Amino acid sequence: MDAVSGISALLRARYGDAAPAAGPGNAVIEALLAHRSARAFLPRALPTGALEMLVAAAQSASTSSNMQAWSVVAVQDAARKSRLATLAANQEFIREAPLFLAWIADTSRLQRTGEAAGTRLEATDYLESFLVAAVDAALAAQNATVAAESLGLGCVYVGALRNHPLEVAEELRLPSPAVALFGLAVGYPDPARPAEVKPRLPQSVVLHREQYGTEGERAAIAAYDGELNRFSERNAMGATDWSRRMIARLGTVASLRGRDAMREWLKARGFALR
Ligand SMILES: Cc1cc2nc3c(=O)[nH]c(=O)nc-3n(C[C@H](O)[C@H](O)[C@H](O)COP(=O)(O)O)c2cc1C
Repeated sequence: MDAVSGISALLRARYGDAAPAAGPGNAVIEALLAHRSARAFLPRALPTGALEMLVAAAQSASTSSNMQAWSVVAVQDAARKSRLATLAANQEFIREAPLFLAWIADTSRLQRTGEAAGTRLEATDYLESFLVAAVDAALAAQNATVAAESLGLGCVYVGALRNHPLEVAEELRLPSPAVALFGLAVGYPDPARPAEVKPRLPQSVVLHREQYGTEGERAAIAAYDGELNRFSERNAMGATDWSRRMIARLGTVASLRGRDAMREWLKARGFALR
């Protein structure tokens, strides 16, 4: 399979009928286009040194003003993984994966750096500092994910780690201000329970040229609803289109499943959010 024909097939899997023509491509782009979340893992340990390579990839991501306002807690202990799984909507794959990474928005190290010099870092009290830490952590985690997938590993993010941030902080002995934003389960995907590339919205609705526009959006989303419906049926998730899923996911405060308390939880974790 040469790069271009591989990329064409991957674009087709990603966009269905709305696939753009393949542009310039290479192995990195192919690997990115082939991403799919893995939620079924083999009981197989990661190779020696893999964790450190994932963290090196993560630390190689850009970081706002080189602040590096994130940390990661690598959990491999089965009992701790199980307790975290319980806190994160009891998702079984967290127990199954040999490695669970908790990605932390962490301004505590910056504050300690200031304290060591006898200075209180006022700016860390502001919402902007929390956003910097959250963006840094997400970029780092995604680099680790891409690195893991390039090694033949599979990953799935775990936003449900925010269901109980205070208990998670206690389990991981996080300092303040620091909070686990999301987890990442990492392991060898079980080939007997494979995942399919999940279609995305057509580029026409996310890519705006020069200025934002919504012309043609309704029809493009309707077509995508059809794609996702077929994907869901193929993957035994029941027929549900994207629009209906999003409305169910965001339609009511109850759909936040308790996370409407996030501002208070973040404050309790030491982020003043001014
Ligand atoms: C921050 C974040 C949190 C997520 N949390 C969960 C989760 O708790 N459980 C889960 O099964 N998938 C979770 N996912 C995976 C998404 O559902 C998945 O990425 C999305 O449906 C697209 O599928 P794909 O990754 O296979 O392309 C999360 C993804 C992200 C980026």
